[in-house]
Amino acid sequence: MEKLLIKGGAPLKGEVVVSGSKNASLPLLAAALLAGGASVLRGVPALRDVKTFGSLIGNMGAGFTFEDARAEINTAGIGNFAAPYELVKTMRASVLVLGPLVARYGRARVSLPGGCAIGARPINLHLVGLEKMGARIQLEEGYVIAEAGRLNGASLYFDIPTVTGTENLMMAAALAKGTTVLENAAREPEVVDLANALISMGARIEGAGGSLIEIEGVDELKPYSYDVIPDRIEAATFAVAAAITQGDLLIRNVRPDHMDAVSIKLRETGAEVARTPEGFLRVRGTGRPKAVNITTMPYPGFPTDVQAQFMALMSIARGTSIINETVFENRFMHVPELKRMGADINLKGGLATINGMEGLKGAEVMATDLRASASLVLAALAAEGQTVIHRLYHLDRGYERMEDKLRAVGADVVRIS
Ligand code: EPU
Repeated sequence: MEKLLIKGGAPLKGEVVVSGSKNASLPLLAAALLAGGASVLRGVPALRDVKTFGSLIGNMGAGFTFEDARAEINTAGIGNFAAPYELVKTMRASVLVLGPLVARYGRARVSLPGGCAIGARPINLHLVGLEKMGARIQLEEGYVIAEAGRLNGASLYFDIPTVTGTENLMMAAALAKGTTVLENAAREPEVVDLANALISMGARIEGAGGSLIEIEGVDELKPYSYDVIPDRIEAATFAVAAAITQGDLLIRNVRPDHMDAVSIKLRETGAEVARTPEGFLRVRGTGRPKAVNITTMPYPGFPTDVQAQFMALMSIARGTSIINETVFENRFMHVPELKRMGADINLKGGLATINGMEGLKGAEVMATDLRASASLVLAALAAEGQTVIHRLYHLDRGYERMEDKLRAVGADVVRIS
């Protein structure tokens, strides 16, 4: 199995280009199922999750090609409405095909995603929403079996603002009869990107980006030709890389307005974070970071997807910081690994108390999920000596050529098998 070898200590300097957003690309690929013909998505990152999604819709009979960040999805041949366990277990976002399949084809058989390293992650809110729109849903042998005639618009309220739940139901509502109102909807930029693509397909959607989204269903949607937004989590990971190595990075292909919470918190640690006249982000470390508390929250709050990376930074901060994880109950799998590198972290429920150390030391560590892997890479970049990161496949699910990008700005990193 492949491993990453990182020798820490070098300040990262130079320019890094962020890829297209993983968490925007996946719902956009699913949205192609809502239309007949070929949709084209540009700026798609070459990631394991994107390839898995290609296999998923290929398995349904759709055409899928992916080259040079351009994905083309042709729905003409679709004849199988299933998302099998083998694919869903490697990528929970497979559940995003549920809304489009039920809305356009009136049926779907989608494996229930189980719990995962970061929490139980149920999809009850997706299912209740589809039922309220008229779908008949049964759970059989670990599969969601959904059937429907044309869906009806409905007034839906999310107990928790769920990102993929909002996306699934927004896609379903786009083809339903009548008006759907989604209250307490997720406000993430990826939801807005999906809404914009759906609007370009002929959907009538208002309010995406706010917590109340109104969708007036239409009879038919046409394929899209669309550019995905940059990955704000990858950008944030590079921003922390600059701060943790006392480096100076110009981060290109970024939407600074999607990164306000992370930028503000990084500035509180003492890092310089500036938007350049071209609209890029420049991040510069200015000495040992100051301890800062964070609480993860749905957007526009501090993203749970940057919590692990920020914890690496706090591990070497001056003082004690508290990280409160409120989105996922178990998203602290990186803690024991960071401790192997010398971090001083105490966990109690959703709270991590981090006593900043003067430095970390290289060690053998294991990636346990996607963002935990990124946190270990960041810790390794700052640590004294060599770190070996095992189970790299987690990192490859969500970061495109991460080690190449890091090497280009001065990191000593190699992948070995
Ligand atoms: N929840 C429920 N019931 C539901 C749906 C969600 O209780 O039916 C709970 C979850 O268990 C969680 C909270 O609601 O406690 C929020 O979960 P959400 O549904 O928003 O998460 P998600 O849609 O499954 C997406 C991203 C995650 C990201 C979260 C939160 C995609 C493909 N995934 O997941 O990304 O952490 O939103 O922002 O968009 C990652 O990229 O590393 C990643 C895990």
